[in-house]
Amino acid sequence: KVREICQELVLSPEVLKEVCDCLQEEINKGLAKDSHPEATVKCFPTYVRELPNGKEEGRFLALDLGGTNFRVLLIEFSSKCRMDSKIYAVPQPIMVGPGDGLFDHIAECLASFIKERNLGNELLPLGFTFSFPCKQEGLTKARLAQWTKGFKCEGVEGRDVVELLKQAIARRGDVQIKICAVLNDTTGTLMSCAWKNRNCRIGLIVGTGTNACYMEKLEKVELWDEVIDDPPQDGDTHIEVSGVVINTEWGAFGDNGCLDFVRTEYDNNIDSESVNPGKQLYEKMISGMYMGEIARQVLVRLVSEGLLFGGFASDILLEKGSFFTKYISEIESDKSGDFNNCRAILEELGFNDATDADCANVRHVCECVSRRAANLTAAGVSVLLNRIGEESVTVAVDGSVYRFHPHFHNLMVEQISQLVKPGIKFDLMLSEDGSGRGAALVAAVASRCAAMR
Ligand code: BG6
Ligand code: GLC
Repeated sequence: KVREICQELVLSPEVLKEVCDCLQEEINKGLAKDSHPEATVKCFPTYVRELPNGKEEGRFLALDLGGTNFRVLLIEFSSKCRMDSKIYAVPQPIMVGPGDGLFDHIAECLASFIKERNLGNELLPLGFTFSFPCKQEGLTKARLAQWTKGFKCEGVEGRDVVELLKQAIARRGDVQIKICAVLNDTTGTLMSCAWKNRNCRIGLIVGTGTNACYMEKLEKVELWDEVIDDPPQDGDTHIEVSGVVINTEWGAFGDNGCLDFVRTEYDNNIDSESVNPGKQLYEKMISGMYMGEIARQVLVRLVSEGLLFGGFASDILLEKGSFFTKYISEIESDKSGDFNNCRAILEELGFNDATDADCANVRHVCECVSRRAANLTAAGVSVLLNRIGEESVTVAVDGSVYRFHPHFHNLMVEQISQLVKPGIKFDLMLSEDGSGRGAALVAAVASRCAAMR
């Protein structure tokens, strides 16, 4: 009976193929001039047209906002890359307060980092990783389309976030910096990996949110005309190359209803209780911000049908958000036949006498939820690999779900192999250094291209 209830979370190869076909169509819509305004998968051109060549040099600052941690970094490239970074908290009231409050906070952390490291007398170039959907209007100009992942600061949507950061820095008046690039974490991840890996063409995040970017041929990007017609901005890399990195913003895939055939009652509940109902529906089926809650909802249903814990839920389990996504990774890390982590977690949730059968069922729920997420992500990656069509492509990956789930990588590899066109080889590579290094690299590549001009 438990398996039967969980069956709707299991996606058959035919269904996954259908998901791929839909995403392919949505990406085409996002890239085409006529359909772009209504497209849900926005496919924003990033102005990043060159990948690093491994010879970048210099010292850079970077800001990394939008993942689990907000970080300020100092990065130095010579033949090696040296990094020094510090994590700062972004308190919940700031995440949902006025926009100026958020940017003042970022500027304050930056200023304190600069002071602590005695960097005050250098005018360092800065790369800003801002991991939210933005329409880029230059390498240093990005308008926030909409907040995602629980942020909701008033007065920022529709505005250029670089301008807002500059204003906050000016309000303080105690630090001097030159913002050279603004980018998404997917682009940062791609750049960071491409620094040493020549085959890297895709940047993927499976963390708090999910998204991917990839190198697309210019002739496929109708929107590019508009970009080229724009007057050059300070720092733009206006040189002739054949491709451009596209930030797909695939988290919004399904927002027009095209994924309804795979969504479940749990997905509907999560969506309606979120701060952005109707938005980011693919992301809500995959990423770390939601995965634990999906599992909790399934567990509550099993209890209500008398199939778990003798039909009695603890108060903790009934609380929204009480089943953390990290529990899924921990429970699935138990060796088979042993439920040590599972039992410890169930105790935290108020179940002190769970039976082996309860543990096996809880584990089964976790597996169904994480497998579905891995399969859906794999479908997305396969679409990009098939579009790129090169024989051998490396996918740079970052994010807590991919990093910490014991089987996510293998599940993805297995599924991508089923969905990708014959003859395409791929590998998924963990990006060890986060997208901070990528931000510095975008700034460095921009300076190299400017110097070449
Ligand atoms: C980090 C990157 O390593 O991973 C961030 O530096 C990115 O830019 C993050 O946003 C994504 O993972 P998570 O799990 O922190 O959202
Ligand atoms: C969300 C954001 C996107 C980001 C992703 C991963 O989907 O909209 O910009 O890349 O999360 O952090």
